[in-house]
Amino acid sequence: MRQRVLVTRVSLPGGGLTRLASHADVVGPGPVVGGVSGILALGNDRVDAALLDAAGPSLRVVALASMGYDAVDQEAAAERGVVVTHTPGVLAETTADLTFALVLMARRRLGAARDSLAAGQWDMFRMGDYLGLDVHGATLGLVGYGQIGRAVARRAQGFGMRLLHHDPYAPADALSTAVDLPTLLAESDVVSLHVPLTPGTRLLIGAAELAAMKPTATLVSTSRGGVVDEDALLKALHDGVIHSAGLDVFEREPMGTELSPLVGDPRVVTLPHIGSATEATRAAMVDLAVDNILQVLAGRPARTPLPG
Ligand code: DGY
Repeated sequence: MRQRVLVTRVSLPGGGLTRLASHADVVGPGPVVGGVSGILALGNDRVDAALLDAAGPSLRVVALASMGYDAVDQEAAAERGVVVTHTPGVLAETTADLTFALVLMARRRLGAARDSLAAGQWDMFRMGDYLGLDVHGATLGLVGYGQIGRAVARRAQGFGMRLLHHDPYAPADALSTAVDLPTLLAESDVVSLHVPLTPGTRLLIGAAELAAMKPTATLVSTSRGGVVDEDALLKALHDGVIHSAGLDVFEREPMGTELSPLVGDPRVVTLPHIGSATEATRAAMVDLAVDNILQVLAGRPARTPLPG
């Protein structure tokens, strides 16, 4: 008998879903129903005891089309013998591209400049208008030096940036010097966050860390909203404690019409969590999630299980 796999969301790019449907009965999108063997979910789908129990004892694998897995209760999955997988390796370069877009937009005030042009306010050429801060030659501090952090570092080389990183698991390499967090915050012109959201990184960047940064510094995050204390960030921007911010991620996602005060602030560039949003990369993420489901359902090890 063909096994049933639930897909939690509509609109999954690429051919992965068609491939899945040739091996299993695909149900959904929709809420979890009992009797499924696999679930293909997104990074912000909560994978907890309630979801696992709703699927019941037939469930063998939950494959996230996402690198982040902060919404997974790993203990609950392990207790029920459910393998949970994610999609490392396929989205680092695309997310690094977007990180650099945020760096450039925030430091060169590109959003404000574009809006002013579109609003018909470009009436004269003035030497003092639209002034930003240089990216080339600046010091970039990477908090987290895994796949995405290193991909950002490679791009920064082309901009002649000096590179620092803080990551307990990553020593210095040919590109970047390993430093402690206080040194990174004090010396960087751009601080870019590339850590997963864990109990240890929740609110890692708060009022004290922002105060330790240069008044000309830019904070960029493509990791998870919960890593930054957003109230403290807003205050730091208003008080001139730091220069600007570029954010692709927020504590509350999606926002709908209840916008965070960070959205629309002229010192902040905000995007709706699109770090990995290219056609090729999103298709590769779905493909890898499908591979993981098919492997586990065939009794083989998952390609990319969550790290133990
Ligand atoms: C990821 O893969 O973790 C992205 O942030 C999308 O969830």
